[in-house]
Amino acid sequence: MEISKIFFYGQDILQTPEFARAMQQRHHIRTSVGQHSIQVALRVLSICRAFRRKGLSVDERLAVRGALLHDLGILDRERKFKNSYECSQLHPVESARLAARLVEDYDERLEHIIVRHMWPVTPDAPHSLEGIAVNLGDKWAAVTDLVPDRKEKLRRMAVLRAMAS
Ligand SMILES: [Fe+2]
Ligand SMILES: [Fe+2]
Repeated sequence: MEISKIFFYGQDILQTPEFARAMQQRHHIRTSVGQHSIQVALRVLSICRAFRRKGLSVDERLAVRGALLHDLGILDRERKFKNSYECSQLHPVESARLAARLVEDYDERLEHIIVRHMWPVTPDAPHSLEGIAVNLGDKWAAVTDLVPDRKEKLRRMAVLRAMAS
């Protein structure tokens, strides 16, 4: 099951208090920052598979970790940002700052993915395959976040179990 791959790659992130709070903070009208991030990670797995089918070598683990971390800077958005525009421009850098604190394997590659995930809303495009996967996966999930998903409840329960274990 795809979701278990996400737990395998990102269990340490899912178990942070920040991710627990992200599961509670509303995002894209009908979802939460945490659930959206899981959705992005699921899309990223599909995109990585498509890259591999084209003979490209992509670090799936790195991309999934980037997906789980990409929006954590949105936590407490009312306190951090003056308005939605400021949030859209600044949350990638804020997410990167938080990620540097949360994970031991934080490096330039992870920073690149997180800081550039909003392109073209922000000026710098991602260059790495993992960065492109998260950028595309984020757009894809932003659209599907708006439509009801019958599997979402089951997935949410699985995520909460993984966070607690
Ligand atoms: Fe974002
Ligand atoms: Fe996002």
